Amino acid sequence: MYKGAVKLAPSILAADFARLGEQVKEAEKAGADRIHVDVMDGHFVPNISMGAVIVQSLRPVTRLPLETHLMISDPDLFLEEFAEAGSDSLLVHWEGNNNLHRTVQRVKALGKHVGVVINPATPASVLEEILPDVDQVLVMTVNPGFGAQHFIHTTLPKIRRVRQMIDEIKPGCDLEVDGGIDATTAPLVVEAGANVLVAGSAIFGDSEGVAAAMKRLQAAAGKARSGK
Ligand code: DX5
Ligand code: ZN
Repeated sequence: MYKGAVKLAPSILAADFARLGEQVKEAEKAGADRIHVDVMDGHFVPNISMGAVIVQSLRPVTRLPLETHLMISDPDLFLEEFAEAGSDSLLVHWEGNNNLHRTVQRVKALGKHVGVVINPATPASVLEEILPDVDQVLVMTVNPGFGAQHFIHTTLPKIRRVRQMIDEIKPGCDLEVDGGIDATTAPLVVEAGANVLVAGSAIFGDSEGVAAAMKRLQAAAGKARSGK
C-alpha cells in the first residue's frame, strides 16, 4: 500500500467542452494535483478526442501541470508539438512502440516529465528495464479509448507488482491509474499501491459538482490508507 497523500488528476475527457476553462479552474480550486489530457487519434484507439490546441488554450487558464496521455500511433511525431503547447508531462504507451527507450529519451530532452503507460493485458514485467528512466508509470484500469467504462478488477494484482518494482527500482516514481476510478474503486487501487488517480466521469459527471466529487474521492482514498 502507498502511505503518502493520494493525488487526483481530473481527466477533462469527461468535462463540458463548452466550459472547459471554467471546469479546469474549478478542479484546481478543489485541490487537483494535475490535469489529465486524453489525446486519441482514432487509430491507436477507436476514438478521436483532442489535440495540442486544447493544451495551448488551457495553459494560461491554470497553474496546474498538464499531463498529456498520448493514445496515438507514432507519438514521436507529436512530442515537440505538445511540449511547445505547454504540456508538463507526456505519457506514452508501451504497446505498439518498438523504440520506447528512444521515445522516453526524446521526452526528457524536451525537458518534460515522462511516463510509460501499460494496457490491462500488458504485464508489469515490461516496465523493468525502462523504470529507471521514467518519472511515472500509468496502469490502465480500462482499455483505453473511452471514458465511463467499468474498472477491470484483474489489474489490481498488477498494480501491486508495479508498486513493488517502483519501491525496489525507482522510489519516488508516481504510480498512476486510469479508468473506472470512483469512490468504490479508489480504495482498492490505493490499497494496491497507486498514488495518483485519474478520474473523468466520477469528477466532471457528478451531479453535485466537481468540488464535491473530488472531496468524496479523496475521502474514499483516505479510507484505504487508514484501513477503515
Ligand atoms: C480512457 C482515458 C481515461 C478516461 C477516464 O481511455 O485514458 O483518462 O478519461 O475516464 P473515466 O474516469 O470516466 O473512466
Ligand atoms: Zn487517460
